[in-house]
Amino acid sequence: MLNFGREFIYCIVNLLIRNTSCLVHTEKSFKKIYEGRDMSTLNTLNNGYILILEGRIAEFGTETRERIQEIRNQFREIAVEDANGGMVFPSWVDSHTHIVFAGSREQEFVDRIKGLSYMEIFHRGGGILNSVKRLRSTPEDELFHTAWNRLDEMIRMGTGAVEIKSGYGLDTESELKMLRVIRRIREKAPIPVKATFLGAHAVPEEFSDNREGYIRFLTGELIPEIGKQQLAEYCDVFCEKGYFTDDDSRRILRAASGHGMIPKVHAEQLSHSGGIRAGVDCGAISVDHLEYANEEDIRLLKNTGCIPTLLPGAQFFLGLQHPPARKMLEAGLPLALATDYNPGSSPAGNMSLAVSLACILYKMTPEEAIIAATTNAAAAIGLSEEYGSICVGKVANLFITRPVPSYAFLPYSFGTILIHKIILKGSVYSGFAS
Ligand code: NIG
Ligand code: FE
Repeated sequence: MLNFGREFIYCIVNLLIRNTSCLVHTEKSFKKIYEGRDMSTLNTLNNGYILILEGRIAEFGTETRERIQEIRNQFREIAVEDANGGMVFPSWVDSHTHIVFAGSREQEFVDRIKGLSYMEIFHRGGGILNSVKRLRSTPEDELFHTAWNRLDEMIRMGTGAVEIKSGYGLDTESELKMLRVIRRIREKAPIPVKATFLGAHAVPEEFSDNREGYIRFLTGELIPEIGKQQLAEYCDVFCEKGYFTDDDSRRILRAASGHGMIPKVHAEQLSHSGGIRAGVDCGAISVDHLEYANEEDIRLLKNTGCIPTLLPGAQFFLGLQHPPARKMLEAGLPLALATDYNPGSSPAGNMSLAVSLACILYKMTPEEAIIAATTNAAAAIGLSEEYGSICVGKVANLFITRPVPSYAFLPYSFGTILIHKIILKGSVYSGFAS
């Protein structure tokens, strides 16, 4: 019997956060997404307080002795969190992860250091198929336990909403097992969890000579079953040479749309494979990775509502070329950021690090990167009405930093842990992992 440890108790409380140096990413009125030049302005409020009632932001403003006293008089039992001069941010939103997996792949990491490429490792039966082998033989409870601990680690690093993909099962039994694990996580987690079906992550060994057969199995059997059981909000495809073509992607995503799933695409990661065009054609909510995106793709994405999402952890870890982030911003597109936490291309779920890498590698400004990792990432999983900024009415998922001289200090201090306290629905989070 596995011990799942202490569970997070949802106690939705009223909370007053005071003595902050700054509230970061405040909004007077809710904005669903920030595009292009709009991403360069981040609203802040110095010496702010936040009043949280029943887990939501009820009020924020500049702290005065009088207002704090009035709040204390009005809400006699209110808990008070002294930020000790730290800054308050909305929690990060991690809109692209693969945190349900078994084992690890550091041997492939070493192989890549010695000169093999990600694709060469895959063609030797490693990569995604290595994780598939391990996941198929791992019991559901164990998968739940390890993913649950990863989620705890991510929350402690400031993540307050998350998307999780399947895609290491690639047969009915194992994909359903993964999606049930995600559902279980969603039911118990203190943050919102969105599920994505990624049956088209790779062609499994049993279909290695029959990709068409695998696509028919996905569209004719597995997708209808997942739709029936309502196990996933999204369907994703790895559109890449050696995995799935743009036409395969369209077939799979259209089938999934017909069963209530919203398309997403792993697009233009290792080569230009037409994933962006396929995503736009199928009404994808996001296209992710984008290292090989070109001018035509940027033009295609304009005014579609499809959110380009960059995953700097994976790009950095695999040593890929940079996605054209500045060109996308100049073209007026929105950008989102996520970790891509997975055992092969990004074994890290640290959103603060993703924000730093976006600034350092892609020349995104701290303002752009913070908005990309909050409101825009929330929009990429349909959550920006409730999460992703300090705005009256939104759920109070926030983090408080140690005292820092400016918000740019966060991406600047890359790899340093500056997050001091996590607030979820107005409760101080103290962890749930065993
Ligand atoms: O997002 N690119 C495809 N899928 C993952 C990697 C998965 C793996 O290597 O296990 C990604 O990078
Ligand atoms: Fe991914």
